Amino acid sequence: MSTTFRLFPQAASTTANSVDALYFFLVAVAAFFSILIFGLIFFFAIRHRRRVAREVPQEVRGGLTLEIIWTVIPFGLVMVMFAWGASVYLEVARPPDNALQAYVVGKQWMWKTQHMEGQREINELHVPVGRPVKLTMTSEDVIHSFYVPDFRVKWDVLPGKYTTVWFHPTRTGKFRLFCAEYCGTKHSGMIGWIHVMEPAAYESWLSGGGASGSLASSGEKLFQDLACGNCHRVDQPGRCPDLTGLFGKPVRLADGRSVVADEAYIRESIVNPGAKITAGFQPIMPTFQGLVTEEGMLQLIEYIKSLSGRPAGAQAPPGTAPAPERQAAGERGPSLPGSAPEKR
Ligand code: CUA
Repeated sequence: MSTTFRLFPQAASTTANSVDALYFFLVAVAAFFSILIFGLIFFFAIRHRRRVAREVPQEVRGGLTLEIIWTVIPFGLVMVMFAWGASVYLEVARPPDNALQAYVVGKQWMWKTQHMEGQREINELHVPVGRPVKLTMTSEDVIHSFYVPDFRVKWDVLPGKYTTVWFHPTRTGKFRLFCAEYCGTKHSGMIGWIHVMEPAAYESWLSGGGASGSLASSGEKLFQDLACGNCHRVDQPGRCPDLTGLFGKPVRLADGRSVVADEAYIRESIVNPGAKITAGFQPIMPTFQGLVTEEGMLQLIEYIKSLSGRPAGAQAPPGTAPAPERQAAGERGPSLPGSAPEKR
């Protein structure tokens, strides 16, 4: 554990300096006006104190110049804060396209992380230095918040939803990860480390991780275990939509609407299949609510992404290449004992 006392967290990401500059500007403006206002209160209190008993002060009528000054200057200042804050927000909120991807699941009271290559970690995340990292996050239970002060990132992690956060580490080392949203008894213990490594060290860490296949291949196995392929067939027209090439594409629904097949849509279709029925299909799919963990959900999403032939991350690992034929008839595994849903 780091014992170095720091008044301020170190700046270890590309966005840290822009967040700090804005922060110091806000502090400086607030400090300037606090000192000015309190200084003037004391100054006027002394200067205009009552000097003789029964003194009646002179009445002061409005002063237009003064009123314009104290309206225009604060207006200008808050507009600067708005424009500056919005630009920093957009920088922080929009991950670059070439970002390395990983997943985070918050759970009372731990952080579970998954890499595209299949490595899984608890309360730790290894990333390479010098390139942006995008995290797609969700929660198994209540609201958590992913907070790395040294990177100046903090983003809520919500049950039933996917949020993303990104950072571009600029130095190697261990950086504290906190949960910044009160989430129950052991909220304060929901902490971890982000390990930022040299690219070569990261590569060897990845290959030595003992992962049993990529995230997409774990998703494929889960897809087979849950017998999803019985209906979502690719070898012949099935009773359910073919998932090949689905991800990221618009889907026409039975009620005439059109939605984009993103992570949230796929998740919803698994836990609440009746919510959005693809045009031309019957609502026959049973819910898989409670049968798939949030981590499993992310694996299934990666598998469906891999069927679209687009690399999951900028760094496409082997095994995520499109291989719809892998799902061909005969390769479907047996149902997971005790966890397969009733066919309805
Ligand atoms: Cu999780 Cu606080």
